[in-house]
Amino acid sequence: MVDAADGRAAARALGLTKAYGQGDTRVVALDAVDVVIERGRFTAIMGPSGSGKSTLMHCLAGLDTATSGQIWIGDTELTGLGDRQLTRLRRDRVGFVFQAFNLLPTLTAEENITLPADIAGRRTDPAWLRQVVETLGLGDRLRHRPHELSGGQQQRVAVARALAARPELIFADEPTGNLDSRAGAEVLGFLRRSVDELAQTVVMVTHDPAAASYADLVLFLADGRLVDRLDQPTADAVLARMSGFDGPRTS
Ligand SMILES: Nc1ncnc2c1ncn2[C@@H]1O[C@H](COP(=O)(O)OP(=O)(O)OP(=O)(O)O)[C@@H](O)[C@H]1O
Ligand SMILES: [Mg+2]
Repeated sequence: MVDAADGRAAARALGLTKAYGQGDTRVVALDAVDVVIERGRFTAIMGPSGSGKSTLMHCLAGLDTATSGQIWIGDTELTGLGDRQLTRLRRDRVGFVFQAFNLLPTLTAEENITLPADIAGRRTDPAWLRQVVETLGLGDRLRHRPHELSGGQQQRVAVARALAARPELIFADEPTGNLDSRAGAEVLGFLRRSVDELAQTVVMVTHDPAAASYADLVLFLADGRLVDRLDQPTADAVLARMSGFDGPRTS
């Protein structure tokens, strides 16, 4: 049940609707979604392409505004904030791994990783940064610019950037989509440990049942609505659930 006063909620939304366009071209990407992201847990979001996964993450992270409904990060209601307050909240409390990486081409990998902290005028803890970079296998890539990196390496830089400032809430939109299975497992293991050992909250979109099995629970979206939930997921259980209502998709 959604409880707006639930202290365990790292983020939550009530009646969240997001529509794009007008009239004939109007697309309802999210249709009155009620969702609670539990603090200190690893939540996976799954669903067919176009079901609204990225839109949900962007709205919960304060990167996009709702058409109607309410959104909170912790006890702060985003829907009441001005631009500057929203920017500060995002900067201080949220890390985001974009589906399209969004790395700055003129900066090196290391500069991209520390950019959010640099903008905020904060120093990135060097020991933590080293741990992030080593775990993600980026140690020898830090001086390269994005166009000199493979897709998988760029993805790992995007993950490192979201983690570098140790935000309480991390959103990752298909963080393993461009990685081979070994690199993917390392990223997933790292996200898992950041929840278990550092009490962070992670929300991850994935199409991969094996990746979803690293999470504590899976939320399933279809046509802009939350249609199912699976606790303590195994890859087999996720696959069975997916084929139950929509057939497994790979893209
Ligand atoms: N800026 C936009 N303008 C118009 N429609 C949009 C926009 N962004 C998303 N949509 C539409 O909203 C719906 C949900 O998109 P969204 O990106 O959230 O899907 P998704 O579940 O993340 O899909 P995928 O798995 O392909 O990444 C889709 O129908 C999409 O075409
Ligand atoms: Mg998406």
